[in-house]
Amino acid sequence: MVRIAPSLLAADFTRLGEVVHMLNQSEADWLHCDIMDGRFVPNLSFGLPVVQAVRRVAAKPLDVHLMIAEPEHYLSAFADAGADVLTVHLEACPHLHRVIQAIHQLGLKAGVAVNPHTSIGLLSDIIHDVEVVCLMSVNPGFGGQAFIPHTFSRLAQLRELIAQSGARAQIEVDGGVDLSNAAALAAQGANILVAGNSVFSSADPLETIRQMKRQTNTISV
Ligand code: DX5
Ligand code: ZN
Repeated sequence: MVRIAPSLLAADFTRLGEVVHMLNQSEADWLHCDIMDGRFVPNLSFGLPVVQAVRRVAAKPLDVHLMIAEPEHYLSAFADAGADVLTVHLEACPHLHRVIQAIHQLGLKAGVAVNPHTSIGLLSDIIHDVEVVCLMSVNPGFGGQAFIPHTFSRLAQLRELIAQSGARAQIEVDGGVDLSNAAALAAQGANILVAGNSVFSSADPLETIRQMKRQTNTISV
């Protein structure tokens, strides 16, 4: 099953409660929360109080993507705020294995995200330890950017790494995902698709999610 994870970053923040209720009724699987610190990425987004508020109304798992430096200082805070999946960037973690262990000790699923230029080979000694690899298909920091086509070759490399190592990590693709590339990403082995702008800028977000879900789950991988 391919999961769809709408990114709240693209939602209308003046109506966040209504948006989450809409997502509760939708075919979305996870709610993706993009946390930016102005250091690891050149932008700020939202933080703990917003995640806590979303948790109070969300009926689906919260997939929290930490685009922050030294994420180890905030793991328990995001666990308390209601994260179900906590993803850190490989590039932000000199002690990545320790950080992944800490996420597991908090009882959460752990993800590792990689920027578009980071070699897939750098995942070979952590792939057994994570539930999710988040393959960035844009440079992190902003919603609404264009999908980087080279992601397809990276997706193939990551699939190969997972197959060869016998790991069980799920592949998440994040950035510029829309109805023009979702089916191809699913066919190439993506298990989770994050979609911000393509969902929330569409005339009918519920219908866009439904179409993305249909397109990606009619193909057997
Ligand atoms: C990028 C974020 C993405 C982004 C996705 O820094 O990690 O999750 O919000 O939004 P779209 O789908 O608009 O690229
Ligand atoms: Zn994200």
